[in-house]
Formats: sequence, C-alpha cells, structure tokens
Amino acid sequence: MISFSLISHPATRIPHLKKDIMAHKVTLLPGDGIGPEVVGATLHVLEATGVAFDWDRHEEVGTAAMETHGTPLPESILESIRENKVALKGPITTPVGKGFRSVNVSLRQQLDLYANVRPCSTLAGIKTPFTDVDLIIFRENTEGLYSGIENFDPRLEIADSIARVTRRGSQRIIRFCFDYARSHGRKKVTLVHKANILKLSTGMFLNIGRKMAEEYPEIEFNDRIIDNMAMQLVMYPDRYDCIVTTNLFGDILSDQCAGLVGGLGVVAGANIGDEYAVFEAVHGSAPDIAGQNKANPTALIRTAEMMLRHLGETRAADAVRKALVDVYAEATHLTGDVGGPCSTTEFAGHLAGRVAANMAG
Ligand code: NAI
Ligand code: MG
Repeated sequence: MISFSLISHPATRIPHLKKDIMAHKVTLLPGDGIGPEVVGATLHVLEATGVAFDWDRHEEVGTAAMETHGTPLPESILESIRENKVALKGPITTPVGKGFRSVNVSLRQQLDLYANVRPCSTLAGIKTPFTDVDLIIFRENTEGLYSGIENFDPRLEIADSIARVTRRGSQRIIRFCFDYARSHGRKKVTLVHKANILKLSTGMFLNIGRKMAEEYPEIEFNDRIIDNMAMQLVMYPDRYDCIVTTNLFGDILSDQCAGLVGGLGVVAGANIGDEYAVFEAVHGSAPDIAGQNKANPTALIRTAEMMLRHLGETRAADAVRKALVDVYAEATHLTGDVGGPCSTTEFAGHLAGRVAANMAG
C-alpha cells in the first residue's frame, strides 16, 4: 500500500489543533444521490476509531439549496469551511448541459483548492486485470477548461469554453506533485499534456514542468501526450507513479485509473489548498443506484483515511487502512460493485467492527 499522508506538505500544518483535548471541528456535506448513504457509512467507520469529531453538518447544497436559498452553494457553507479549514464531502449532482454551475468546481475555485490528489492502488480481493497498480493523480483543480469562462453567441450559434492556464496555477500544482513525490519516496513524475496541438496553454504547463524537474534530480521525469497516456494506462499502468496534469485531463484520467483498480467505488480523493482541505471521493452522485443501499462506501472511507492523516490522527488512519486491506483480502463482506454480497450498511458495519478491534489491539 502507498502512503496517502499529506502531512509533510506545508499546506497541511494545522497549528490551531490542540489534540487530545478537543474534538476536530469539520464541515460535513452529505451531498445528494448516494452521498448521504456513503457519508453515513463513513461516519459509522470513523466512530469506530474513537477519534472525536464535532461535525458542522450542512444538508442543503446543490439542487436542495436552490429551492431554499436560491443558490446551489450557500455562503454559510463557505464560511463554515473557512472557519474549520477541513471538510468531508459527499458527491453533489450537477445538471447536465443546463442549470447551475457545478458546486464541486465552485467550491474548489472559491477556496483555492488547487491540488486534487487522487491515489489509485490495487486492493487485493478485487478481481482486475492488473495486480500492481500504484498511481497518484495530481490534477490542477482551479483553472484550465474548468475556469468557467464560457460564451455563447446566439446569433452566430458559436460556443466558446476557454481553457485558461496560468504560470502561477501551473507552477503550484507541479511543485505540489514534485514535493509530494520527494517527501513520500515516490520515484517518477509523468506530466500529461496536449502541447502538440494546444501549444500555448498546455505547452506552457509542459515547459514549466520540464524546468522544475531539474530541481528534483532524484525523481525521474517524463511527459506524455494525453491520448497516448490513455492507452499506456490501460496497457502498462505499472510504468506510472505520480501523474500531474491540467484540470480536464486529470478529471478523465482519474475515472480511467479508478477502472484499473476496481472502479469508482474504491478511489479516494482530496482537494488541497494552502489554507483549506476538502476531502471527497472521485465518484459522483450515482443516480442509477441512489437510495438502494448498494453504493460502495470504500471510496469515501479511504478519503476519510486521508483526512485522518491530514488531521494528525495517524493511528486511527492506520487502523482504517489495515481493516480495509484485511476485509478486501478476505473478500467475503464486499459490496456488489466489487463482486460481493453486502449492502452499503452491512459492509460498513463489518468494517467498523474491524476498525474498533484494530484500535483496541
Ligand atoms: P458517477 O461517478 O456518479 O457514476 C458513474 C458510475 O459509477 C455509475 O454507474 C455509478 O453507479 C458507479 N458508481 C459511482 N460511485 C459508486 C460507488 N460508490 N459505488 C458503486 N458504484 C458507484 O458519475 P456520473 O453518473 O457521470 O455522474 C452523476 C452525477 O454526479 C452528475 O450530476 C455529475 O455532475 C455528478 N458528479 C459529482 C462529483 C462530485 O460531487 N465531486 C464528481 C463526479 C460527478
Ligand atoms: Mg470526475
């Protein structure tokens, strides 16, 4: 297993936390679709660690908040995260092709959570074509094609979506990736781009990466054009380690890499900035299975494990990780998406028992 620890990054120092005497105050967004189900399961597992949390829970976000607040992202949610510095978040549905802008993208931009860190590693017990995937995607999270600069000329029927890439934005995500690789003993960084065609935007991103690589001589650096990378990842995922890329490419490669290790039900994520961190899994609200008690909460539980490390709760994080590895290796109490017979709540109950035992042992 790889280390998800983000503790060594300067963004993650939390001087105000007085451990042992205070509960961690964390903003909790259950979200919609499968969100409340996987969040409920994750809270069950977190309770088993014995770590004290004081959740600042905000149910109304996205479509629900539109009805009551007239906005999908009420200011009270941003205020809560700014105060608590840390949030745990379920997925939030975004209307496709119409309606309000993604709350997920807005949160990342408004809180300047520029690094989207998404580890994808094989869990023994899930049948996949590969047994040794161990990748981390570092996705630029605030600009690129998701910058929100869009224009439609109704007379000419021309639509523009601008991919804005800035030097500052590129430098900080690439720096984050290299620093992470260095502090976690990772060996390689691959920068993914489309600089043959998008010469100005991803070309600048590539040039910044090539130059910065000189400062990290112990880390092997290479680059790949996005289309080739998509093929490489399904043929030779073991050749890749840390992957840094722009917003849209990182979004797509994250779901692809999830597919290498068992699907969206098992892949965690974190949105990290210099001041705040919002922990959310890679997957969305999965309307096709919402309300059926069959979503896999592993992705959000692994996300919560990342949050525990961020909060300095290493022992609890290790207990969760060990329980997950053991329960998956036994493969008798898994959810349907990874070939098991359990519901969301059955899986969480079983896992929570293991976590409690690990904490006691
Ligand atoms: P999705 O990730 O919600 O679902 C894709 C497929 O994976 C579905 O078949 C779903 O059932 C399955 N899946 C996802 N999570 C799972 C889990 N935990 N356990 C078992 N199966 C799981 O992506 P989709 O359907 O493209 O998007 C649905 C909605 O979610 C959209 O409104 C989209 O905008 C939103 N979304 C929100 C995100 C967020 O809140 N950060 C991220 C991605 C999408
Ligand atoms: Mg996505």
